[in-house]
Amino acid sequence: MTDRPQTSANSMWGGRFAAGPDAIMEAINASIGFDRRLYAQDIRGSRAHAAMLASAGIISDSDAAAIGEGLLTVLSEIEAGDFPFRSDLEDIHMNVEARLKEIIGEPAGRLHTGRSRNDQVATDFRLWVRDQCDAAVEALGALIRAALGQAEAGADWVMPGFTHLQTAQPVTWGHHMMAYVEMFGRDLSRFQDARKRMNESPLGAAALAGTGYPIDREMTARELGFERPMANSLDAVSDRDFALEFLSAASICAVHLSRLAEELVIWSSAQFRFVSMSDKWSTGSSIMPQKRNPDAAELIRAKIGRILGATVALFTVMKGLPLAYSKDMQEDKEQVFDAADSLMLALAAMAGMLSDLTANREKLEAAASAGFSTATDLADWLVRELGLPFRDAHHVTGSLVALAEGRGVDLPDLSLADMQGVHAGITEDVFGVLGVHNSVASRQSYGGTAPVQVRAQIARWKEKLA
Ligand code: ARG
Repeated sequence: MTDRPQTSANSMWGGRFAAGPDAIMEAINASIGFDRRLYAQDIRGSRAHAAMLASAGIISDSDAAAIGEGLLTVLSEIEAGDFPFRSDLEDIHMNVEARLKEIIGEPAGRLHTGRSRNDQVATDFRLWVRDQCDAAVEALGALIRAALGQAEAGADWVMPGFTHLQTAQPVTWGHHMMAYVEMFGRDLSRFQDARKRMNESPLGAAALAGTGYPIDREMTARELGFERPMANSLDAVSDRDFALEFLSAASICAVHLSRLAEELVIWSSAQFRFVSMSDKWSTGSSIMPQKRNPDAAELIRAKIGRILGATVALFTVMKGLPLAYSKDMQEDKEQVFDAADSLMLALAAMAGMLSDLTANREKLEAAASAGFSTATDLADWLVRELGLPFRDAHHVTGSLVALAEGRGVDLPDLSLADMQGVHAGITEDVFGVLGVHNSVASRQSYGGTAPVQVRAQIARWKEKLA
């Protein structure tokens, strides 16, 4: 950034100012340090605006052509990295316009007819956030495919299902993976929904009240890919709910990512060994040679901190702001930029990590069989076959678990005589439900963990994504 000494009033709005701002005023006021990221959107919006001004007869065709061409020159300068960003020009809007003036001269001054930086920034930022919604949808698609790949490979692999992180009932690896597919699928649709709602154009709302020039807001809206112009100029320049919605969707998605990341951290530990991460997604320790650390998973787990932080920050900035524009709203961008960057990185890392992950089928199955995971199946058998009320069956099963636990064995290791000692009606058939494969295969209720159900859900998702 070139910081030019501020000796005179701002060339953009300094008509009524005799002197320039204090250096600290410039520092707190300038947003060019971060909003330069909106350059492509800003130039796109300005080109649409200039073309519309000419088509509505507000400026001449030759001025509009000069502006359009000049803006493309500015664009290529910025993209080539040789644009002299100036903090005395505050923001991206004035930096672009000032440079345009240097390039094309007088016609540049006609670009800002019938518009204000208020509708300009609202337009630029909407375009940017809209792109991020598309990027999130794309990244979530890739992540869902990675989870589907895992689910398909292990649709009938058994593993312990947990509640309270205590072994509860056996489930399938495929079922567990498909739970995340559902979560990420809802995340994806949240970004799609948010995009739909934000896809209206603020351009032409001008400072806050609209304009007396015969502008054509439909035309600029169409050119920028918006569904329609926003219907209220005060609303158009003063709301940032589209950014809040993006951040909210990002926060929920980051919560899902964080939960999966946590499971991967636990599962890859020496105590679990349910999965092994590929070398590509692990790090070693500089002192402990045996270590393989799941750093990527840990960082994904942590990203929610920044993303939710940004969400809370922008909600806090927006609450209580009177209509219409206030400079407070300049604080929207850094939060959204940081949250979007964090989310995209976390989504890409999770998709990569999941694709390269190896689930340890034997370990999963051994763990599924431990911890009396089929106790519920035994209770259900007592209900079904012996007609016991569920509460009594629960009690009988509890006694059998206590017996097995006392002997340091699992339920299927008890003899029929042991079982009959607790309830005389139990027969040999009971052993059929004590195996984990039988247990999962029996849970065929819609959405249940039986491999046939899991495969049906995988097929549904594959069709949906095709
Ligand atoms: N840099 C400003 C922002 O991000 C642009 C809008 C300035 N509008 C104004 N009335 N000062 O919010």
